[in-house]
Amino acid sequence: MTSSAVPIAVLISGRGSNLVALAGAIESGEIPARIALVLSNESAAAGLVRAREMDLEAVAVPHRDFSSRAAHEAAVLERLEAASIEWVCLAGYTRLLSPDFVGRYRNRMLNIHPSLLPAFPGLEVQQQAIDHGVKLSGCTVHLVDEGLDSGPIVLQCAVPVRGHDTAAELAARILEQEHRAYPEALRKLLVEPWAIEGRRVFLSSSIGVVEGGSD
Ligand code: GRF
Repeated sequence: MTSSAVPIAVLISGRGSNLVALAGAIESGEIPARIALVLSNESAAAGLVRAREMDLEAVAVPHRDFSSRAAHEAAVLERLEAASIEWVCLAGYTRLLSPDFVGRYRNRMLNIHPSLLPAFPGLEVQQQAIDHGVKLSGCTVHLVDEGLDSGPIVLQCAVPVRGHDTAAELAARILEQEHRAYPEALRKLLVEPWAIEGRRVFLSSSIGVVEGGSD
């Protein structure tokens, strides 16, 4: 790791498999970043354990300990600032963020979502995709704006929805691609020149599609 490694925070609420994927890509030198902080709003998040196993600084800032969203966010921001965080990666972080928080990390905060946005924002999206009868789903890495899963799209990866898929089967097929897409999106934004015009993110070297999600 070089001294030019960008300090990033990964915010989680659950199992942390995308955190592990990001950490692996950083460890292998693909991304010039260092995970300076893993933060969870759930103290029981399995991802915190995985973070500590990887020797990452990992803290719980439980939202239930605070009387308001603003107070919780202020505590989270304090942690981010103390660690000089430049980029934030939301990875299964279940708290909605206020416009103030979003403004602090505008165009420096990413989220990953298990559908091809703008289809199926929100929760239980794999079941929604199956119920709707779509033939393709996938994952989307996007910059975070004030809306729910609504920010400018950086990169997407499609996977087929099979005839009798359960939500769990589809989720597993999508998750496999999430683990490729999230590191690749972060790498592109940190390493390559890019621009944003309105909702459109222009990447320099290639289109924002991760291929190979057919199985
Ligand atoms: C992923 O499916 C991600 O797309 C969604 O929440 C899930 C988090 O999984 N936002 P993990 O905690 O990274 O394993």
